[in-house]
Amino acid sequence: MSRLPASASIATPLDGARLFAPSAERNAPAITALLCEIGPAQGRALEIASGTGQHILALATALPGVEWHPTEIAPERRASIDAYAAEAGLPNLRPAQYLNATAPGWAAAHAPFNLIYIGNLLHLIPQAAALILLTEAAKALTHDGVFVVYGPFLRAGELTSEGDAQFDAELRAADPAIGYKDDDWVNEVLTSAGLDQEVRQMPANNLAFIARRIPL
Ligand SMILES: C[S@@+](CC[C@H](N)C(=O)[O-])C[C@H]1O[C@@H](n2cnc3c(N)ncnc32)[C@H](O)[C@@H]1O
Repeated sequence: MSRLPASASIATPLDGARLFAPSAERNAPAITALLCEIGPAQGRALEIASGTGQHILALATALPGVEWHPTEIAPERRASIDAYAAEAGLPNLRPAQYLNATAPGWAAAHAPFNLIYIGNLLHLIPQAAALILLTEAAKALTHDGVFVVYGPFLRAGELTSEGDAQFDAELRAADPAIGYKDDDWVNEVLTSAGLDQEVRQMPANNLAFIARRIPL
């Protein structure tokens, strides 16, 4: 993992193994509404970098016909996801699995998925790592699958709010290799990976890329 400022991934302990991220709580309703609108009603869904598990808990509750697969690189976060899942007892929420989403080749070991969701990671990793993540996710989709990438981004190379400028500067000060990725760059990578996409403006100046395989 890159060096991160304290503001990048805040999660505090609750009871047991559960962790609580205030930002995850704030953006869960908008992410859940989006995936309910554009996601499949059935099938297999992968969440990359599930974090504390707050999002996948909301998603598995809102889309009960979908089998949700949480994944995380950090063991304490996998424990948190499983603690939330155990408490909720949702039959469609699988145990958290280890996934380093920036390691080449992971798609072959995990695919196929009808829905893949990744939130709030691309700005925390170098561009070369983000390229691997996006390319592998495209490979892991079923032919009719949808890939959703959510988070803060540059718009045509520009930072578009004071909060974004401050956060991006904090990230780059902690590690010059990381920071906000450009929306045009994400578009190019997804297109090169064979996906067509729509971009939605989300609350708190975030974006959601909704990418589907281009029909042959
Ligand atoms: C800012 S948190 C976002 C968590 C959650 N998706 C959310 O939006 O609340 C970033 C997460 O990415 C995880 N992570 C970092 N590098 C990763 C990698 N290479 N593969 C998978 N997960 C990774 C971290 O452990 C952390 O939980």
